[in-house]
Amino acid sequence: RPRVLSGIQPTADSFHLGNYLGALRQWVALQEDFETYYFIANQHAITVEQDPKVLLERTLVSVAQLLAAGVDPVRSTIFVQSQVPAHNQLAWVMECLTGFGEARRMTQFKDKSAKGGEGAASVGLFTYPILQAADILLYRPQYVPVGEDQRQHLELTRDVANRFNHRYKKTFRAPEPYILESTAKIYDLQLPEKQMSKSIGGQGCVWVLDDPQVLTKKFRSAVTDSETEIRFDREAKPGVSNLLTIHSALSGEKVEALEATFEGRGYGDLKSEVAEVVLETLTPLRERTRELLGDRAELERILAGGAERAGAVAEATLRDVYDRVGFLPPA
Ligand code: TYM
Repeated sequence: RPRVLSGIQPTADSFHLGNYLGALRQWVALQEDFETYYFIANQHAITVEQDPKVLLERTLVSVAQLLAAGVDPVRSTIFVQSQVPAHNQLAWVMECLTGFGEARRMTQFKDKSAKGGEGAASVGLFTYPILQAADILLYRPQYVPVGEDQRQHLELTRDVANRFNHRYKKTFRAPEPYILESTAKIYDLQLPEKQMSKSIGGQGCVWVLDDPQVLTKKFRSAVTDSETEIRFDREAKPGVSNLLTIHSALSGEKVEALEATFEGRGYGDLKSEVAEVVLETLTPLRERTRELLGDRAELERILAGGAERAGAVAEATLRDVYDRVGFLPPA
């Protein structure tokens, strides 16, 4: 069966609704038809400073959320990036195939290093997309299910894969991003021109593990516009459009059908109903996550098995790479 791979960073106490709708839901769906590999990108997390205890805790909470969302540890290989050393080993080779200017053009690096200036950013933040390329290429996946913000990293991955194939010998398949148009970018509820993100956080960010009252309040205070009409128009009505997108994604109703249902009704109604629809999905997910966290030993057992399965696949690719590059085989 063709393969699918994706990763997520453990950089908050919970995933947010953008992570869930943009990525996780597709991870679950793709298990049906593909051999799936999903991992926690804890090495990517330390490109900015992390408290070690908190990072470790968030790694386990992340795994629990994947399982609670429906990633099945029997059908999917679930692992933690730092437990599979081949990721770093391939990253080095790929770093040597990536141009400095090429890496500098990555918009996520530009955004994340903008605050303190390029000089304050870590070298790891700079090489981050190349580690991501290695993460992906080791498993030779057909698809990589991600949100819109990862598209550029996927393009870099395809470029370095092709470059390797060209310089040495055909080794990698260029993976395709798997990005669902309707949920590719979920926006912040307070700043509906910006994508919902862990770094903005605050009232506009809906966490998967939010308490129901907190979550409902976030939707009630969502920013809309000064009109009254409930209509999808990303440019003129970003807040209302985002609420319609979220409703539609979770209720399964088409946006046009929702526009008809809400005709003549107020924004207050829309906000309450979206909150309800979101809670219907997230409440069981939240409860299941808490249950799973009650049995750490089981989570660690799943990760140990996952690291072994992933490691075997990754190691086989690394052997081919080392052979082609002119290295002795990995020990
Ligand atoms: P991360 O941890 O920032 O996000 C995890 C996934 O969630 C998607 N996402 C969104 N989708 C829609 N709307 C949003 N507002 C939103 N915010 C986040 C992201 O696109 C992503 O799919 N670099 C990656 C982690 C990574 C990775 C990989 C992914 C490391 N190696 C290899 C795929 C393959 C990241 O930081 O995702």
